[in-house]
Amino acid sequence: MWTLLRTSTLRLPISVIIMVSASVNGSSTDKRQRKLELPAEANASLSVPVDTKAVFDCPSILLTSVVVTTWQIILRDKLSCTRAYRRDRNETKEGNCTDERITWASRPDENLALQIDPVATTHDGFYMCQMVTHFGNFHRGYHLQVLVPPEVTLFQGKNGIAVCRAAAGKPAAQISWNPEGDCVTEQEHWANGTVTVQSTCRWEDRPVSVSCSVSHVTGNKSLSLELSLEHENKKIWKSI
Ligand SMILES: *[C@@H]1O[C@H](CO)[C@@H](O)[C@H](O)[C@H]1NC(C)=O
Ligand SMILES: *[C@@H]1O[C@H](CO)[C@@H](O)[C@H](O)[C@H]1NC(C)=O
Ligand SMILES: *[C@@H]1O[C@H](CO)[C@@H](O)[C@H](O)[C@H]1NC(C)=O
Ligand SMILES: *[C@@H]1O[C@H](CO)[C@@H](O)[C@H](O)[C@H]1NC(C)=O
Ligand SMILES: *[C@@H]1O[C@H](CO)[C@@H](O)[C@H](O)[C@H]1NC(C)=O
Repeated sequence: MWTLLRTSTLRLPISVIIMVSASVNGSSTDKRQRKLELPAEANASLSVPVDTKAVFDCPSILLTSVVVTTWQIILRDKLSCTRAYRRDRNETKEGNCTDERITWASRPDENLALQIDPVATTHDGFYMCQMVTHFGNFHRGYHLQVLVPPEVTLFQGKNGIAVCRAAAGKPAAQISWNPEGDCVTEQEHWANGTVTVQSTCRWEDRPVSVSCSVSHVTGNKSLSLELSLEHENKKIWKSI
């Protein structure tokens, strides 16, 4: 199934290039140059935070010249699903689309954008708008990566050990310490694509306070902790 889909999506750019060169001046001009002139063809990469709304636009083509528009959706580990709109009959068709969060952004006779609301980690995948128009075929693809901010905690363990944890972030967060210590970093990968990163440190000369910085595409966080016997096992949640 996957192989079949890839083959059919791969064929598209070729047909677009040929049709456009033919309609522009009918000669076989440099394909790469033609490709750059086409605003409709490129794939885009989108990173969208979980629980927000994502909207994907089709190529900007005069709506009255569009015959059929098909959104092809290929989610991680799943078969394709399609949503199509046929303009002459003002008719929509759904093929295997069971996810109610993936819909037309508004009325397809006015706007052909697709929306996901709200975005979940299961929506990682490839979304492609394919248009059959009076001027040829156009398409635009989006590689969607869903982002999840990690939950960050810093606490003191026994014997002056400090533990900084960035739980269930997507993609994995990076942890760094000030001052630098003797640290061990572990990662745990979850089925929903999130990763928990935990860094455990000790210092030869125990500093009075340490801070842990977590950097992540959704935003950076820095936490600090006073290392003392009274604070043993106390959790500090302060974030900057
Ligand atoms: C867009 O992405 C799809 C799926 O990964 C790929 O098959 C296609 O070749 C890409 N198209 C372009 C123009 O890069
Ligand atoms: C298309 O159909 C919808 C409802 O099915 C209707 O509201 C809309 O006016 C129709 N648009 C056109 C252009 O006929
Ligand atoms: C829907 O799924 C069936 C089997 O799972 C597949 O044969 C069919 O091609 C799919 N249809 C679309 C439009 O993706
Ligand atoms: C992902 O899975 C982990 C482990 O089951 C869970 O703690 C976390 O809340 C999940 N995150 C999302 C965004 O579903
Ligand atoms: C987050 O931290 C990283 C590395 O420490 C840095 O490159 C990036 O610019 C920071 N991002 C923000 C939004 O401050």
